[in-house]
Order: sequence, then structure tokens, then C-alpha cells
Amino acid sequence: MAPSHPSTHSAITLHINGEKYSLSVDHRTTLLDALRERLDLTGSKKGCDQGQCGACTVLVDGRRTVSCLQLAVAAEGREITTVEGLADGERLHPVQQAFLDLDGYQCGYCTPGQICSAVAVIEEHAAGWPSAATGDVRPEAGPPPLTAEEIRERMSGNLCRCGAYVSIVRAVARAAAEQSTTEAAA
Ligand code: FES
Ligand code: FES
Repeated sequence: MAPSHPSTHSAITLHINGEKYSLSVDHRTTLLDALRERLDLTGSKKGCDQGQCGACTVLVDGRRTVSCLQLAVAAEGREITTVEGLADGERLHPVQQAFLDLDGYQCGYCTPGQICSAVAVIEEHAAGWPSAATGDVRPEAGPPPLTAEEIRERMSGNLCRCGAYVSIVRAVARAAAEQSTTEAAA
């Protein structure tokens, strides 16, 4: 009798930007390839395909994830947000708007990953998470000021070959300031 081989494919359902997508994937398919090649969600970009550039960054359960290193099968049941899911209808997310207003890009290839990362950076900072640039990491010290140094450190997993960093830092700072003003007024 011929030996039976385990299937190399699984039927999975991914929750992306509030929608459910059912598909059959090879177990080795990365989340990035599933998004781009199978679901036509091409906003997330493939830069290095080995976890070094951040171009493929998406949010998984609100946390930043390099989707080229995440298997699609492991993302089943998680809430995935890609750059396509950030805007509210025709209204851009404040981070998107800040990148647009302040020229936070040149070629734009790294931009979707930069924007997804920045959305999470602002949340992480507001929640009091320290970074390697934070001087006083005691919980009672509260969130450090979101200085350019803090932003650069927190965004350091996202590379920009064009070198648009100066504008990216300004855009993240403006979006963070807007968010804290909105939250203070609420
Ligand atoms: S493509 Fe995923 S980190 Fe570069
Ligand atoms: S804008 Fe070109 S790589 Fe960042």
C-alpha cells in the first residue's frame, strides 16, 4: 500500500480589515504572500522577505507584525489590519493624512509599512511602553515625551531607502499630537 502523505494545504479563514476571507493555502505560505498573491491586498509591500525592512508590516491583534515572517495558517482567527483597512471610508487615518501633508515618503514603497508601524507606535507610546531610547523606564514615570529620538527608535524596524526619515518623524509626531489632543477632549 502506498504510504499516505499528510496534506500540504489547509483551508483557513482570515479576518482582514473587518472582512472574512476563506482560502486554501500551502502551509508554507506567508501572511504577506496570502495578502498580496491570493487576496489582492497589495498595499503591504515585499522588500526583503526576511524580516529586515518592515515594508510588509501589518497589525495583528493591534500589534506590529512583519507579515513576511508570519505563516498565514498561524494568522487564522486573529484580527489583521493592513494599510487598506486604516481609512474611515473616504477619510484617511490621521497617520496617513500626516504622511501626505508632510511628505513622509518619496517613492512610497516603504510607506504602507511605515504607516502601519506608526499607528502601533502611537498606541504603544500612549500605553506607556518604553523604548530603548527611554531614559526613565519605571512604570510610575509614565510615557516619556515622544521626542524625535523616541520616534526614530520606535520606528527603527522600518527602513526607507529614499531616506525620507526627517519627514516621517515629523508626520508621526503630528499624528501622535493630534491623537492625544482628541483623547484629552473626549
Ligand atoms: S518584506 Fe518583510 S520585513 Fe522586509
Ligand atoms: S519612500 Fe522610498 S523607500 Fe521609503
